[in-house]
This record gives sequence, C-alpha cells and structure tokens, in this order.
Amino acid sequence: MNSSGNTIFVAGSTSGIGLGMALRWAQRGNEVIVGGRREDQLAAIKRDHPEIDTVVIDVTDARSITEVTAKVVGDHPDLDMLVTMAGIMRVEDLRTPEFLPTSEAVIDTNVHGTVRLIAALTPHLMTRPKATIMTVSSGFGFVPWHVTPTYNATKAFVHSYTQSLRVQLSDTDVNVVELIPPAVRTPLLGQEDNLAFPSVEEYLDEVFALIDAQPEAHEIAVEGVRFYRDAEREGRYADVFAANVAFAV
Ligand SMILES: NC(=O)c1ccc[n+]([C@@H]2O[C@H](COP(=O)([O-])OP(=O)(O)OC[C@H]3O[C@@H](n4cnc5c(N)ncnc54)[C@H](OP(=O)(O)O)[C@@H]3O)[C@@H](O)[C@H]2O)c1
Repeated sequence: MNSSGNTIFVAGSTSGIGLGMALRWAQRGNEVIVGGRREDQLAAIKRDHPEIDTVVIDVTDARSITEVTAKVVGDHPDLDMLVTMAGIMRVEDLRTPEFLPTSEAVIDTNVHGTVRLIAALTPHLMTRPKATIMTVSSGFGFVPWHVTPTYNATKAFVHSYTQSLRVQLSDTDVNVVELIPPAVRTPLLGQEDNLAFPSVEEYLDEVFALIDAQPEAHEIAVEGVRFYRDAEREGRYADVFAANVAFAV
C-alpha cells in the first residue's frame, strides 16, 4: 500500500480512528472521500477540509451502499482504496432477550456493512492497476471481552473473512490489509476521555510508522494490540481471556 497518490474511500470516518486516518491520508497527498451517517459532522469536515469529499452513507442499508458507492466511483473513477471502517460496539446482557435488537444492530453494521461494501466495490477495485481493501477488526476479535459479546464476534468474523478475501484476490492487483486496533480514545463505547488508552493521534503515529516501514504487510497491529493478537499463538489465550473477564464496565 502506497501512502500517497491514492484515491481512498473511508466508509465510516466522521469521527475517531477513521477521521484521523482520512485527515492524515489527505495531508499525504491522497484524494480522500469521508463517509458516514452524521450530516453535521460531514458538513464540519467539508468546511474545515474543502479538499476532502464527503458522502452520506448508512452501511446498514443495502440500497444506500449501492447508490453511494456508485456515486463515489462516478465522481472518483481513480478510486483505488476502500476502508471498511464503520463499526459500532454495544454492551449486552445476554440474560434477558432485550439484548437481541442490539445484537442485530451490531451484526448489521459490522458484518453486513463490511461485506456489502466489499461486494459493491471489489469489481471496480479489480479494474485498477493497484488497489487496496482495508478491513478493520479489533483486539477483541482475537480474545473476547464478555461485556460486548456480539461486537467481539463480529470482529472475529472480519478477521476470518479478510483472510479468505486475501486468498481469493491473490491473483488480482487488489491487496487486502487488516487494521487491528487496540482500545483507543474514541466515542466508540464512550471511551473518548479515558486516559488509560492512547489518543487517536498517538495510535495513528504508530499505525503510519508501520505502514511506512512495511507497506506490503497483511496486518497493521501496533504494539498495544499484540497482547491480544498473539495471545493464542503464544499460548497466553486463557490468561488474556481471564484478564478481560476481570475487567468490568
Ligand atoms: N476505538 C477503539 O477502541 C477501537 C478498538 C478496536 C477496533 N475499533 C474499530 O475502529 C473502527 C472505528 O471506530 P472508532 O473507535 O473510531 O469509533 P467512532 O468514532 O465511533 O467511529 C465509528 C465510525 O463508524 C461510523 N458508522 C457507524 N455506524 C455506521 C453506519 N450504519 N453507516 C455508516 N457509518 C457508520 C460512524 O459514523 P456515523 O455515526 O456518522 O455514521 C463513525 O464515523 C470501528 O470499526 C471499531 O470497531 C476501534
């Protein structure tokens, strides 16, 4: 993945990690399209960064994805990178059936959203001389936190799906990269003021250093997420799972 000269659609980048990456990519000379549901956020991004294009998209709505991705390709025929950033994380109490709508919403956003975006844009990306699909999983996709059960499972899905996608596209010019964030200070689960976690900028300093050092890497896993990412292969899974269980909200 080159870090300049691309045309990048970051689906789900009105705040947090996605917005931070979009701004850095724009600063590095990429054409960037920011997508999300919050029109006020999109308008503020457009006002502060007129060079960035913005689109309203809801990844839980199949029609929105079809229409918006067609518009993005129409307006930006050089599009050569998709980032499936949109995600939600919710606490669930599985002892009562009231968790079900929450679970369904998390699956619809994190799983169906990711798959629909990939379905909509892979044919176009395959026409480009060199292209990238970046998916977004999580440390909790590798070792779950019992408080957010569906979220963890959706991120395990993203990891698994990304591996298969990479193999299926291996004879094309589409590179498949998985971003595996640790806990970062964003509004995802109301942790934007939790100083125990790195800020978005601290996290992205490390992410972009990794991208620059290893542009062909399949996974972007900063030091802070290795505790989770490598737990199983290093024989630490049970200990890390127990540490997660000990951590309540
Ligand atoms: N921060 C962490 O600790 C952490 C750790 C591991 C993984 N991640 C992953 O990183 C990604 C970004 O999260 P974040 O931490 O930066 O949180 P965030 O600030 O809440 O960002 C989530 C983004 O997803 C978008 N989104 C949510 N539902 C959407 C929908 N239906 N359609 C379109 N866009 C939608 C939101 O935009 P709108 O609300 O405007 O639609 C927002 O821009 C997520 O996939 C998350 O799971 C984060």
